[in-house]
This record gives sequence, structure tokens and C-alpha cells, in this order.
Amino acid sequence: MLILIFCLFFHLLSPINSLPVVCYYIINQPDPSLAPTDLCDNFILINSAHISGGGALEYVAEELEGFGHLFDGKRELYVTITSSNPSFTFLTSNTTLIHEFTKSVCQMLKSFNLNGVDIDWEFPVWSRDAKKIDKSNFGTFLRILKSHLQISGFKLSVAVSGPPTISRVAYDVEALAKYADMVQIMNYDFHVFNRYSNPLVGFNAPLHPMRAEISVLGEMNSESSMKTWLDLGLPKNISYFGIPTYARAYQLLTHYLHKPYSPAIRSRPEISNYWDVCIFSKSGYYTNVWNHNAQAPYLYGKDGLWISYENQQSILAKMAFARKWGVGGVMVYAVGSDDYHGKCGYGRYPLLTKISKLARS
Ligand SMILES: *[C@@H]1O[C@H](CO)[C@@H](O)[C@H](O)[C@H]1NC(C)=O
Ligand SMILES: *[C@@H]1O[C@H](CO)[C@@H](O)[C@H](O)[C@H]1NC(C)=O
Repeated sequence: MLILIFCLFFHLLSPINSLPVVCYYIINQPDPSLAPTDLCDNFILINSAHISGGGALEYVAEELEGFGHLFDGKRELYVTITSSNPSFTFLTSNTTLIHEFTKSVCQMLKSFNLNGVDIDWEFPVWSRDAKKIDKSNFGTFLRILKSHLQISGFKLSVAVSGPPTISRVAYDVEALAKYADMVQIMNYDFHVFNRYSNPLVGFNAPLHPMRAEISVLGEMNSESSMKTWLDLGLPKNISYFGIPTYARAYQLLTHYLHKPYSPAIRSRPEISNYWDVCIFSKSGYYTNVWNHNAQAPYLYGKDGLWISYENQQSILAKMAFARKWGVGGVMVYAVGSDDYHGKCGYGRYPLLTKISKLARS
């Protein structure tokens, strides 16, 4: 009886509601000795894998050596295969190539003691050289890949778009639901600078729309992204809510116009790491603004710098949303953009630590 009570008690205390945290890790950013092994449940390694003309993978073996042991089997390790078109369009259009690809993926996973693979095609149907048939071909590709992975107990993760405009046309969601073990929803890059079509500042990863945003602009946020995926039929329990750690910086036309959608003359990609932004935000030189509707912060200065980024408050809002939504877990892109040295004075990995704490509470 005592043992039974103890077990029940223990069960209540243990984090049964804990959400898995999946972290993208660009190999050697930072050095593996600084990797946040205690903050992430799964790691998805980003290396330099390419798909050859014959379908087989080409990659640098040295990059992957040692990772299986680094995490000591306590964390699941995936490796991502990222490509824009036309590689994936070509690969998925020919079953001979798909089989070659699948064989070489399984060999790689075995050789390096990895748990699964993550497919990141940005994006089927969508880009200039993509094809309508990408959508159904990607479904076939996932079916064949999964059937081979399954035999050896390997898992399949798929990274998908955040913007509903892409999500609606690019994917065979039935196939995703059937074959993917995890679907990483990339809830970021909702606003990207373009000199001709979008010379404005804006939020990289707002949680909700702002009041004046209607039509397509009203959909460029994480909430609309998640709603779209649910409407399309993606099961919640394999959906992973994506959270960026990186920032997007812009140069304003004039610092007198600094609200979201103010004119910008260029992007400033050299500023994207949280430690830089965090130090700016503490400096006293920049103005910090919290947008209540978007649940997102930005900062700007007299020098015309404007930055959309994530902080403790936006992460709190996102984690609460993800939990309420009932997702399978959260995904973080990427480990190396957080303040892994603790340069800003809030300890190592302040963003990831917050995510991990909230995921386990
Ligand atoms: C598929 O790829 C294989 C290997 O490159 C090639 O021999 C075959 O002709 C291709 N099939 C089609 C239908 O293009
Ligand atoms: C998700 O839910 C479905 C249906 O309820 C279930 O069959 C499946 O095993 C669940 N998958 C995971 C990863 O929990």
C-alpha cells in the first residue's frame, strides 16, 4: 500500500506534462563541448549533406564522427538534409533515385549511431523552379523513406513552412500525418526584407497578428501557422512548434519612422545572434518596444538600426500558446544563435534555458 501511494505521489511530482524540446544544431556552432546537452531532448544536426545526381547522399564523414558518443545515447540525434529546388524535385520524381537516397541515408544513420533523419525541403511546389507535382511526389518519397527507416528502427522528421500561403499548397498532409514521427513547423521568417517587394521592417516571428494586419499579412504569424496546419489535418501530437533564437536586423530609412512596417533601406544580416541584440538592448542607447498584439519585441536606435528578436517575454508567450494548443513538442532554431557563452550577463543559453524550464514545468 505504501509503495503504491509512493508511486502515485512520485508520478504526480514527475514532469508528466513535459514537452519535448528539439534543437537544431549547426555542427560546430558552437563547439560540441559547449553544446546544451541538458537543455534539449533531441538534437537535429545540420551538416553539409548534398544529394548527388544519382540520388545518394554526399557528406563529410568527419563532421558526423563522434556525435553519437558525445550525447551518450541519452538524447536522440537526427541529421537534417536541407535543400532548395531543384535537387528534391529531381530526386522525388524518380523512384530509382528515391531508393538510392533511402539506402544511403540508412547507411549514414547506422555508421554514425544516429536515431533518425530530418527532411527540410524549402519548399515543394513553392519556389521558381518547383513543380505542381512536387506535392504528390513528396508524399511518395516520404512513404518509401519511412518504410526503409522503420525496418532499422530509425525515425523520420520533416521540417515544414510557417507561412500559411506556402503550407496550403506545398504539402501532402495526409502523407505527413502517416509517415512523419515529428513535423517541425518553422514559425519564423514571416517577414523578410526585399529591396523591391518588401522594403520595410517587420517581425520575424510574431505570435499573433497586429490589429491593422488583414488578409495575407494577417496570416504571417505563428498562431495562423498552427491553425492552418490543424485545418489541413496535421495531428497535434506530431506537431512541433518552432521558435527562433536568431534575430533579423534592418537599417531604417529614418529613425523618426520606427514602428513595424516603417521603410527600411537594407537588411543587416551581420546582426542575428541573441548575445549582440541582448547587449544592445541593455546598452541604454536603444529603445526597447514590446508589441502587445504580436507578443513580440523590437528595438531601434538613433543610428537607424531596427531589430526583431525573441526575449524572455516572447518565449513565455509562445510556450504558453504551444502548451495550450497541445503540440507534441517545441523546436528551436538554432542552438548557436543563443548566448551560449553568457556574454550578456544572464547565464549561458538564456533563451534555451527559459524554453527548457517552461517545457519541463
Ligand atoms: C530514374 O533514374 C535512373 C537512374 O539515374 C535512370 O536510369 C532512369 O532512366 C530514371 N527514370 C526516369 C523515368 O527518368
Ligand atoms: C498521436 O495520436 C494518434 C491518434 O490518437 C496515435 O495513434 C499516435 O500514436 C500518436 N502519436 C504520437 C507520436 O504520440
